[in-house]
Amino acid sequence: MRSHPGESLKVLISRARIARRVRELGQQITHDFRGEPVLLVGVLKGACLFLADLSRAIALDATFDFLAAGSYGHSAQTSGQVRLLKDLDASIEGRNVILVEDILDTGVTLNYLVRLLRERQPRALRVAALLDKVERRKQPFEADYVGFRIPNRFVVGYGLDYAERYRNLRDICVLHMTSEKKRHRKK
Ligand code: IMP
Ligand code: MG
Repeated sequence: MRSHPGESLKVLISRARIARRVRELGQQITHDFRGEPVLLVGVLKGACLFLADLSRAIALDATFDFLAAGSYGHSAQTSGQVRLLKDLDASIEGRNVILVEDILDTGVTLNYLVRLLRERQPRALRVAALLDKVERRKQPFEADYVGFRIPNRFVVGYGLDYAERYRNLRDICVLHMTSEKKRHRKK
C-alpha cells in the first residue's frame, strides 16, 4: 500500500509473525477456558481484524459483541478521559468475556473499560491486547493475553489507524512523518 505524502511506513511486525502469534493466543485461550463458551468483545474499530483472526484460532463456542470508546478530543494520543461511544448489544452477566483491544498504550482506555464491564458481573473477564507499549503506561494495567510488546513508536496496520487510514495494511508498520507534517500533528 502507498503511504500518503509526508508519511512513510516501515514494517515492524510482518503478517507471518502476526498470524503465528495470533494462533498461539487462540490456543492459549482455548486451553484456559476448558470447553466453556466465550464472548469476544471487540473495541471498535482497531480490534476488528485481530478479533476476526483470533476468534478463528479459538476452538470454543464463541460469540461476538462490540463497543467503542473514545478519548475526548481527537488525536493520535489519548487525552486521559475516556467515554463510551457505543455500548454492547447484550448483557454480559455470568458470561466468560474476553475484551479484545488492538493496543495497550497509556492504559487509560482499558482501565476504564474493565471497570465498566466488571460492574456488569461477568463470570470471567480477561483482556487480550495485540500490542503493548509498556513504557507508555500512565495507569498500571496488565493484559492477560499480549501479542507483542513494542517500543514507543506510532504504529498502523492490521486494524490500527492514523486518521482512520492504514487499517487494512497486512503488516504492522511504524508510521514516520516528515518534519513539516509533524508540526501539524496534534499532541
Ligand atoms: P490508551 O488508552 O492510551 O491505552 O490508548 C489506547 C488507544 O490509543 C488504542 O486503542 C488506539 O486507538 C490508540 N493508540 C495508541 N497507540 C497507538 C499507535 O501506535 N497506533 C495507533 N493507535 C494507537
Ligand atoms: Mg483503539
